[in-house]
Amino acid sequence: MKRIAVLTSGGDAPGMNACIRAIVLTAHRNQIEVIGFRHGYNGLLKREYQPLHPGDVVNIIQRGGTILRSARCPEFVTVESAELAAHNLNGMHIDALLVIGGNGSFMGAEHLAKYWDGQVVTLPGTIDNDIAGTDGTIGYYTAIDTALEAIDKVRDTADAFERIFLIEVMGRHAGFIGLNAAIGSGAEQMLLPELLDDGKAIDLSQIMRHIKVTRQKRGMCSYIIIITENLYPGGASALADKLTKEMNVDCKPVILGYIQRGGSPVSMDRILATKLGAYAVEAARDGKHLIMVGEQNHRVVEIPLEQTRTEKKPLDPYLVEIQQDFFDMVKNPT
Ligand code: F6P
Repeated sequence: MKRIAVLTSGGDAPGMNACIRAIVLTAHRNQIEVIGFRHGYNGLLKREYQPLHPGDVVNIIQRGGTILRSARCPEFVTVESAELAAHNLNGMHIDALLVIGGNGSFMGAEHLAKYWDGQVVTLPGTIDNDIAGTDGTIGYYTAIDTALEAIDKVRDTADAFERIFLIEVMGRHAGFIGLNAAIGSGAEQMLLPELLDDGKAIDLSQIMRHIKVTRQKRGMCSYIIIITENLYPGGASALADKLTKEMNVDCKPVILGYIQRGGSPVSMDRILATKLGAYAVEAARDGKHLIMVGEQNHRVVEIPLEQTRTEKKPLDPYLVEIQQDFFDMVKNPT
């Protein structure tokens, strides 16, 4: 193996830079050259790239975002795009492509592999943690901490005014950030996609009942509801509006949004990214193809890439259960 390429694709995640760094340093140790494609798959199509040497990755481990830039590339589903990418990779004598990204980026990698003879190795990089086969994804741990820091601040003002807040977190269609933000902040309620039966709407009267009994038990107090984005038409603002008008309570919406994608990665993300980045290069060197490199019980694992598409990752049922028990203890105090 002489030359590999790396790209970051889809939503950027804190720790992507740490991962690029580990890839470059491990490749250098193995006398393998590294090319970085810029702007995700777009760089592969437009031959927008830069060589990456150890000197290029000094002091990036602590930086959020990605030095290679990221982008979505909707056209990368077509046969023509994959053929063009394969043509460019062959022209540049790339032996293996390493893709750091989420589900959409992994589908792009699988698609490319149908038209290209080189090796494809992927690494899970997304704040959403919605990738099966790995306990955590690069960026997820930082996103939880960022959300918690913000929610703690909202709690201060919520307490001062004894107000109800509806706080929307990211996650696309998965409740991993929402569940952990709810647990870590001691939220009174959480609304997550996994907890709603298919097609069922959020039960507003149940929320109201819970607010009422909480206040009966504790007296007038703050009340925080964590909601995952894309769960209610119009998002947290529309739902807060509805609660305020229809249920006659004063409910304030807070949308945490893109702050969850930025910032210096926490230690868990730096270490995960470093471990997976180094391992991915070794796996490529050893001829591995169409795999995702992930982590289970603190050990690096290789997962068939296809599995990340066909399997849905569940929330930890124990975490869900204890958090729901805590909500119920407010309802049924003994
Ligand atoms: O996948 C990461 C993520 O931040 C999701 O949580 C969110 O739904 C999505 O990306 C937003 O994507 P974009 O930045 O393309 O609007």
